[in-house]
Amino acid sequence: MKPTSILFVCLGNICRSPTAHGVFESLVETQGLANVISVDSAGTGDWHIGSPPDNRATDAALVRGYKLAHLRARQIAVHDFVEFDHILAMDLANLSHLERMVPAGFFGHLGLFLDHTDWPKPAQVPDPYGGGADGFEQVLTLIENASAGLLDYLKATTFT
Ligand code: 4NP
Repeated sequence: MKPTSILFVCLGNICRSPTAHGVFESLVETQGLANVISVDSAGTGDWHIGSPPDNRATDAALVRGYKLAHLRARQIAVHDFVEFDHILAMDLANLSHLERMVPAGFFGHLGLFLDHTDWPKPAQVPDPYGGGADGFEQVLTLIENASAGLLDYLKATTFT
């Protein structure tokens, strides 16, 4: 059976979405679900195509045990709407960019990643790029929480 596929999307694909990619993939592997869930990430912008994640994201993630350094940024493309079951945006600006790209016949799920938390909606992962290290810590904490919620959701809806 084809794995359930998850695509995390932010603006540059060097801070938030690679963090979500690394954190959620680690959770999936820890739970022995790597054969049924596949994970990827992309940016709506094209500035950082081919670049590794921002060092601040990589360093903050490593402190919590997540490896991001092997990831490379790419830009979302229309074919991603064919290939992925769940496309999850980090904030409303990127969600609205994605909504404008949706091709006819897209039957997947497009939404905000933090919909998979108990926080008041809409909840967003703030862009840490122009700020300090504390922003990257906050991003990680938000993403760890939403990753647990997303996995619970997938277990309840997809693997029953
Ligand atoms: P991300 O952060 O969307 O979480 O990867 C950003 C990275 C780069 C830029 C903006 C946000 N930028 O303007 O280059």
